[in-house]
Amino acid sequence: MRLRLDASTHLLVLTGAGVSAESGIPTFRAGGGLWENHPIERVASPQGFREDPELVWRFYSDRRRQARDVQPNPGHLAVAAIEERLGDRFLLVTQNIDGLHRRAGSHRMVEIHGSLFETRCAHCDRPSFADDKVYYGADVPACDACERKGRKGLLRPNIVWFGEMLDPDHMRRIEVFMESSARARFVFLAIGTSGVVYPAAGLVLHARAAGAETWLVNADPPENRSAFQHFVQGPSGKVLPELVEWA
Ligand code: OAD
Repeated sequence: MRLRLDASTHLLVLTGAGVSAESGIPTFRAGGGLWENHPIERVASPQGFREDPELVWRFYSDRRRQARDVQPNPGHLAVAAIEERLGDRFLLVTQNIDGLHRRAGSHRMVEIHGSLFETRCAHCDRPSFADDKVYYGADVPACDACERKGRKGLLRPNIVWFGEMLDPDHMRRIEVFMESSARARFVFLAIGTSGVVYPAAGLVLHARAAGAETWLVNADPPENRSAFQHFVQGPSGKVLPELVEWA
């Protein structure tokens, strides 16, 4: 099954951990996946960070090392190549924090769950900054902006944890894209995501309400399979380079 696109199509792509699986980054929910070996609430929640910041930094330092050491795969490259053709008629929404889409050449992109390679303060509202350092041991990094004010603030990865809000500017950017797409031929394509984490899992319904044709590429039928009109089952690194047919 091929997805036919032409230069006037608007395309909204949503990706999840499956798109990075063939680069060697484990997904979250599979057998042996990250959430099987690490309790979510301890490593990916504000409360977990308050209780044991050292454990959280160890977990994300491991993630930083792993993401640094792997390469984008043909699935990431295929997504970047589609953007190259569509320009501003394209938007990528990714739940992935690994930076592989950017390294593959994607630009028009919203990282709705944040970025592994950015750090921010858990206490003050200084802007997040680029950071690929790893922090192991008792040495949890402190915020110098807080220190200058005589306060103690701890730095944390700039990732959206469970129980936290997504950035409203990100959501707005997605809404604006959908509004402008509703007047054109509009396609929504989800890739490598289990469809259980909201609001990402609900984007397909918003896109349908805006008139989108809905496509899914996934290794297995996910939770929200029935919301999609077209389902191509298979690994994204193999499926995506062959999926699009340009009119
Ligand atoms: P999951 O681990 O929940 O799901 C990954 C999906 O990708 C599954 O449906 C797999 O079948 C599929 N898959 C695996 N390998 C694939 C491949 N090579 N090609 C295509 N599909 C493949 O990951 P996400 O849906 O991304 O949030 O999880 C969503 C969010 O839950 C993550 O962003 C993360 C997690 O908790 C945070 O950390 C905030």
